[in-house]
Amino acid sequence: MSNDNKQTVPSGPWGYPLLGHLPDFLRDRLGFLSRCAAQYGDVVKLKIGEPTFLLNNPEDIKHVLVTNPENYDKGPRLTSARGKRLSGEGLLTSLGAAHLRQRRMMQPAFYRTPIQAFAETITNGAETRMAVWKPGTELNITAEMMALAQHNIIRTVLGDDFDDRSGEFATALTTRKKYVEHVYFSLLPFPEYLPPKLRREYQQARKRIDDTINREIHKRRDLTGPRHDMLSLFMKAEYDDGTGMTDRQIRDEMLTLFSAGYETIGDGLGWTWYLISQHPEVETRLLAELREVLGGRVPCADDLPKLRYTGMILAESMRLYPPTWIFIRIARQDETLPSGATIPAGAKLYLCQYVMHRNPRYWPNPERFDPERFSESAKKERHKLAYFPFGGGVRVCIGESFAKMEGVLVLAAIAQRFAFTLVPGQTIVPKPQMTLRPKNGIWMRIDQR
Ligand code: HEM
Repeated sequence: MSNDNKQTVPSGPWGYPLLGHLPDFLRDRLGFLSRCAAQYGDVVKLKIGEPTFLLNNPEDIKHVLVTNPENYDKGPRLTSARGKRLSGEGLLTSLGAAHLRQRRMMQPAFYRTPIQAFAETITNGAETRMAVWKPGTELNITAEMMALAQHNIIRTVLGDDFDDRSGEFATALTTRKKYVEHVYFSLLPFPEYLPPKLRREYQQARKRIDDTINREIHKRRDLTGPRHDMLSLFMKAEYDDGTGMTDRQIRDEMLTLFSAGYETIGDGLGWTWYLISQHPEVETRLLAELREVLGGRVPCADDLPKLRYTGMILAESMRLYPPTWIFIRIARQDETLPSGATIPAGAKLYLCQYVMHRNPRYWPNPERFDPERFSESAKKERHKLAYFPFGGGVRVCIGESFAKMEGVLVLAAIAQRFAFTLVPGQTIVPKPQMTLRPKNGIWMRIDQR
């Protein structure tokens, strides 16, 4: 919807002649964007590489993601040839009609019934992890949650019987993740090639990942009888014309799930334990809910609708520390947004959850951790796009239900058995990379309940 009556020219801070705002942004991404939003309002004009606009009005965000997504492409980081090389030619990296076709074919694998059938995989993962925790010791809860989320996505995609006792497949996924992050965030020239050691390690890791997926595809072709894992679901999935994916496409979509499906929820869970540890009143209410609903037993999919407060804690944690803290769109044509700002063709739009989720117009006392913000009545009163940890519209996260289920089950399974206390003397600082993670991890002392 364009609104010719109230066209406005967005303004922004002073920038360096050639470099624009790049130095300020690189110095302190979160602080710089937050200050810009506080000072310049709905739409802030910046120059970070290309002309860039930071959107802080939920109506504008809705317009870009939901109302007219055809005019806004994903940024080149994922959709370029390099993005496809690193993350596969799949859902994450495709555009336009190709994306819609792929999304329609994959969507049924993410419906409620198939997703909830993975609940036991997730709680088994949590039980296995807890079995090696020693009460009275200290651990980095962010690293623990990352390892758990990685374990869970491997079992969800390749099956509970997938044998990775040596940990080589998990290590290969971690090496790949580190390399991709290096390529996107390094200030070195030619980061895909430098340093050569990192590239070699990545190539070996990528070969292991590709070989393993190919082997698992062939194994399933010879199997008879039902199986429940993402790979089997994808091998049966069909396009509208009744054809299925080639082995290469299946492999790339598995890579998509390994790229998008664990770091985000791992970071989200790490932040959630930190916030719970700082808010005893929230912890008391959480434990009361778990006592009432579970009474000490392992949670299952049927418990999810009853674990409402647990879900509200997770939602509020992802408000303050959204694992995807920013994403980008590029305008195809000039357009005037609902707020009145005109966006020229080719401009880059920043949709920044970290900033929007702390906008005081929609979030009174924004720094306060308060799960009540996600009660049904509070949600109804707020603009839907004032909160978008999973994006929105046609490209909304396909794993949203899976991630929410995993988050609630893991919190419920672990909180009943262990208490976490923040080890004193740490300064917890968010570091915005591919996901938002604590700079030095979060060290907690663990005690049995
Ligand atoms: C807390 C956990 C998660 C968060 C915060 C998150 C966030 C997001 C966001 C913001 C997007 C949209 C990006 C854009 O529009 O440019 C997205 C897309 C996507 N996510 Fe997630 N995600 C999470 C978990 C997962 C999981 C568990 C999976 C897979 C099992 C997954 C798979 C994907 C895929 C495949 C896409 C691309 C969808 C498309 O373009 O059609 N995500 N995610």
